[in-house]
Amino acid sequence: MKIQKNISLKKYNTFGIDVMASEFIHITSVVNLQKILREKRNYFILGGGSNMLLTSNIKNPILYVNLKGIEVINEYQSTVYVSVNAGENWHQFVLWCLRNNFGGVENLSLIPGNVGTSPIQNIGAYGVEVKDTIHRVNAVEIKTRKIVSFKNSACEFGYRNSIFKNKAKGKYIITNVIFKLTKIKHQLKYSYGAIKTELEKKQLKKPSIIDISNAIIKIRTEKLPDPNKIGNSGSFFKNPVVNRNTFLKIQAKNKTMPFYKMETNYKIPAGWLIEQCGFKGKRFGNTGAHKNQALVLVNYGNATGIEVLNLAKKIQETVQKKFGITLEMEVNIF
Ligand code: EPU
Repeated sequence: MKIQKNISLKKYNTFGIDVMASEFIHITSVVNLQKILREKRNYFILGGGSNMLLTSNIKNPILYVNLKGIEVINEYQSTVYVSVNAGENWHQFVLWCLRNNFGGVENLSLIPGNVGTSPIQNIGAYGVEVKDTIHRVNAVEIKTRKIVSFKNSACEFGYRNSIFKNKAKGKYIITNVIFKLTKIKHQLKYSYGAIKTELEKKQLKKPSIIDISNAIIKIRTEKLPDPNKIGNSGSFFKNPVVNRNTFLKIQAKNKTMPFYKMETNYKIPAGWLIEQCGFKGKRFGNTGAHKNQALVLVNYGNATGIEVLNLAKKIQETVQKKFGITLEMEVNIF
């Protein structure tokens, strides 16, 4: 087990924030993990670092979950169960599925982060959420060091939400996720406007999972900044959900406002609200709201976590004042 002292976390968080870790422990096996947990210290769990904003040095020992491996564990005529260890890169796993013609995760192409953290915020894009393909989530309970298995329904998945952000927060370390994928008759989802347009441009009437993935990769690359070039954590805020009354009031004044109709409520794109408040493409020192998608806050190079957090708060206040809507941060602040 490799343990490093006083290292920079810059390359371990997609925001590229340069803070220091006092102790950085590489976890490469579940047995090692269980062993280290016996010391009962107050650990900081790190996966792909794609959904966090670090605002200060981390004094607690960091457990860097670097468990690798992808394996088919059960195979039937039309479905396959795949076990993926937590430290596998999400997009590399998607590519592996495409190579094997396993369907279900193609819409989630190019999402930064690791497989082990994907259930925590139930990553989602273009009409698909990871919960749609998750069969089980396996974890080690920090207190007892026992291996616990959560079936899909026990994960309490919601929009960018799960039990791991609520009741189970800080209690488990996800070690492995089991996915149920399709081998034939893939359930393709491409009604989302931008994907449809992209497929039509290529005159693909019967797209394959690879075609869908390629379309999504193209859309994401055009719209979202690459964290390897400009630090970011994807959508910084969740899209707010408002009731019908509030929605109608805002819509009366903003006829072109995009929205997603839910059962009774309405989801309004936070990116649109932020753009209306004038933040899109504006730079504030080393940080700003991205020029193509205002919902993504970026680090132009040497931003501190505090700088980004201050901008996020300013955005929240402005949106609150202009629209009376509270934007909830999606990114975890440490
Ligand atoms: N919009 C603006 N201005 C902006 C950004 C967006 O007017 O600066 C408008 C767009 O024109 C569009 C609407 O808002 O009409 C929705 O925009 P988009 O399709 O980009 O999706 P989103 O709702 O902003 C969500 C997810 C993304 C995911 C996309 C595609 C959340 C918080 N974000 O964004 O997820 O990729 O849908 O499915 O739900 C992430 O979570 O990190 C993430 C990138």
